[in-house]
Amino acid sequence: MQDNIILTMQDIEMSFPGVRALKQASLTLRRGEVHALMGENGAGKSTMVKCLTGVYHKDSGEIIYDGKKIEPTTPQAAVEMGISTVYQEINLCPNLTVAENMFIGRQPLRGKLVDWKTMNRRSVEVLRRFNINIDVTRPLSTYSVAIQQLVSIARAVDVDAKILILDEPTSSLDEQEVDKLFEIMRRLRSEGMAIVFITHFLDQVYEISDRITVLRNGELIGEYEVKNFPKIDLVTKMIGKELSDLSAISRVEKSEDEKQIIVEAEDICVAGKISDVNMQLRTGEVLGFAGLLGSGRTESAETLFGVQKAHCGTIKIKNKQVNLRSPADAIKNNIAFCPEDRKRDGIIAELSIRENIVLAIQARQGLLKKMPLKQQQELADKYIKLLGIATPDAEKKIGELSGGNQQKVILARWLATEPEVLILDEPTRGIDVGAKAEIQKLTLSLCEKGLSLVFISSEIDEVMRVSNRIVVMRDRRKVGELKSEDFSQGRILSTIAGGESK
Ligand SMILES: Nc1ncnc2c1ncn2[C@@H]1O[C@H](COP(=O)(O)OP(=O)(O)OP(=O)(O)O)[C@@H](O)[C@H]1O
Ligand SMILES: [Mg+2]
Repeated sequence: MQDNIILTMQDIEMSFPGVRALKQASLTLRRGEVHALMGENGAGKSTMVKCLTGVYHKDSGEIIYDGKKIEPTTPQAAVEMGISTVYQEINLCPNLTVAENMFIGRQPLRGKLVDWKTMNRRSVEVLRRFNINIDVTRPLSTYSVAIQQLVSIARAVDVDAKILILDEPTSSLDEQEVDKLFEIMRRLRSEGMAIVFITHFLDQVYEISDRITVLRNGELIGEYEVKNFPKIDLVTKMIGKELSDLSAISRVEKSEDEKQIIVEAEDICVAGKISDVNMQLRTGEVLGFAGLLGSGRTESAETLFGVQKAHCGTIKIKNKQVNLRSPADAIKNNIAFCPEDRKRDGIIAELSIRENIVLAIQARQGLLKKMPLKQQQELADKYIKLLGIATPDAEKKIGELSGGNQQKVILARWLATEPEVLILDEPTRGIDVGAKAEIQKLTLSLCEKGLSLVFISSEIDEVMRVSNRIVVMRDRRKVGELKSEDFSQGRILSTIAGGESK
């Protein structure tokens, strides 16, 4: 079996100022396997990958690739050796066309000029393997995050690689897109490619992977065969203790007379985005939104937050009709919105964790009334502790945090405004299992204190666990609403698939 090994990373050490991201981390890959690299937020998964691909340079340790010792110095060098990567942060150029993005750095030439025709044709062909039929001559930014993600995956698999690394590739994909990706991964595996798969979706790990390596705090915990490694053992190895009982998390039921309607939307529509959406949100209640990607969940939430302006219908807050023309209007009405695409709408990478957390409060107070530094520090420290954000201190730049920890900072930003209504769009995406349970618990305890929550998630289990009622969306309309006594995965799925319009 020894000759089947394509890569050994042995005892890798790597530090950032103030943080030892990797200490004695190891990874062995075989040809023709899907290998899941698992660990909590901040465990060192992305850093490990970046040490291999020349984005970062390890302090010590050894990398043996295809029988030879290597020191990748730049991402380009790694690609040339046959190591292809899709990074957690989509790193494409939004202003270039889809085709240009597919072929950055390897454009087909005709003489000295770029051969546009060939490039466009090849792009169409490659994307077709993913069932994506789009105009490749349009700028990438005109397409959804999911499409952008698929473009970066398509680009990565199109090169002649021996190792393919996918760092949380599925976080913005819907079920069908994930299936498509898995089909392609299976084919590449059967052709002998070694695939590293990083994700926080445990079911996906068990569906596609052959072996699992677990990292914790930058150290190798172990390497396991998926078939001999029950899920519960995986979670225990990842977090280093038993997972606090998920069944202890359950929604807060309210008595009828406590239920004052705080937000009410009647037949709201946004041209080309959503039509006839009705909803009522009551005090201290969690209203879940279920539906496929693109079903209008996010657009509905954005309308309640003034990002999109409703062209028809009415929105009432505490029984008073409001005109939400911008997020500022919504914020004034004590509504907060934690968006799903943190890279685009969320983080400001160059600012510190503290600055990112106080941002929304500061915006509400007006920039002239600056919050005293001491108060900012206290607030930041409070939320770092409350959400378990892994960082040495609040002054670290948010861009230097692991992906999941960035997500927690954004959540902190909106919790800190102490809103009456909080809209969470995929709040636990990219967040590890332990922290996910913590965040669900935290938001529910806030509801007990009177916060009203809109909770959007693609994970039906999660929506059912936290919601009092669930609005089901399909094709940009509301197609049903379920009460907690009627919740079941089957019922929600069948409503998504074919419920009556209402
Ligand atoms: N550019 C950077 N500068 C400073 N510290 C960093 C940088 N990148 C990562 N770190 C730190 O290194 C550690 C490991 O981070 P890494 O991104 O590898 O985690 P991860 O396992 O990929 O987590 P996630 O699941 O949240 O993506 C974390 O403590 C993180 O804060
Ligand atoms: Mg990561």
